[in-house]
Amino acid sequence: MSEVPAYYGGEPVRETVLGYGSQSITDREKEAVLEALEGDYITRGPTVDEFEARVADMVGVEHAVATTSGTTALHLAGKAAGFGRGDDVITTPLTFVSTAHTATYNDATPVFADIDPHRRTLDPNAVREQVTEDTVGLVPMHYSGHPADIDGLLEVADEYDLTVIWDACHAFGGSWRGEAIGAQRDMAVFSFHPVKNITTGEGGMIVTDDDELAERCRRLRSFDMEYSPDGHDDEPWYQVSEDVGYNYNVTDLQAALGLAQLDRLEEFKQRRDEIIAQYDEALAGIDGVRTPPEPLESDPMYHLYAVEVNEEFGCDRKTFVNAMHAENIGVQVHYVPLHYHPHLQTEFGYERGMFPETERVYEGLVSLPLHAEMTDEDVYDVVTAIETLSDSHRE
Ligand SMILES: Cc1ncc(COP(=O)(O)O)c(C=O)c1O
Repeated sequence: MSEVPAYYGGEPVRETVLGYGSQSITDREKEAVLEALEGDYITRGPTVDEFEARVADMVGVEHAVATTSGTTALHLAGKAAGFGRGDDVITTPLTFVSTAHTATYNDATPVFADIDPHRRTLDPNAVREQVTEDTVGLVPMHYSGHPADIDGLLEVADEYDLTVIWDACHAFGGSWRGEAIGAQRDMAVFSFHPVKNITTGEGGMIVTDDDELAERCRRLRSFDMEYSPDGHDDEPWYQVSEDVGYNYNVTDLQAALGLAQLDRLEEFKQRRDEIIAQYDEALAGIDGVRTPPEPLESDPMYHLYAVEVNEEFGCDRKTFVNAMHAENIGVQVHYVPLHYHPHLQTEFGYERGMFPETERVYEGLVSLPLHAEMTDEDVYDVVTAIETLSDSHRE
């Protein structure tokens, strides 16, 4: 191993690239998908029903509605909630663009509020400041899997009668005060993209206790089709679309993969927790690297391990990221704040400088590799690369 970081001319700490996230697929998943291929339905069928029932049971809610992605789940949840033109929906700027699409896909306006820098999630006081008579909804995001301030945000929602849609795309498998993340009202959305806590290739899920919202999501997922309209009992072909609906149907193949992944959820969580503990311990002594916040009253299942690098480290975040890439460590940054995105600036007048806490946190954020297939050696490589870079700034 070189004492000189690869970025400054040394040898990389490893030869192959270690990605920041990855799926874990075994023979068990492959067999499940092959079996589903033999079934009568390779589109949405009984395996999707079973997958939904398992997730609803796990989360402890009445309903789970599977869709083609976290993004389409957010679209449907927003539409089912009634978000539309002229409505404001408050959300965080420190998230993936899909969170804002809960509003934009439904012609509503995404209104950003700043974050609580400790949790890196929506600050209830900042939310309160953004509420107007047009505000109808709130879309908090559990950044990295760390629960947002659930009590504080529900209090604001109660005060102003807002529908809450939790973007829990990072947080599947975690709990807060003994209750699964996703069980909080009104709806929550998960993503099963390959880097997420479990995967179905692409896929998403809406969970809720509300019968009407669930029914609305189910209908919208499939063309808003009424399959047996009144007065047409003797015309079995007579199916009519009542409004603009979508084809966000998932397949039994994806659901079979999802069910096999659910069987491994505990194993995935345990491995992620082990890696996090190793990172926490190894990075505690490195100046200028702030490790992720301690979970409060919760047992999160973390999707990301996002540190904040500051000037004490000896280089800026850009150099840090490029230096890790030179070592073949595939770190990432989550996320470029949404108010920096051109389409949100053009459409809604956002500008840099509007959300100082988000911007300050963003300046230092770096997600280190975290996934269930990582070995102890992989973790060692990441830590060594960071230590070597840190040491090189102190010589
Ligand atoms: C916070 C958040 N919300 C929503 C999404 C969208 O999920 P999907 O990729 O399944 O559409 C993502 C995906 O990266 C995300 O990170």
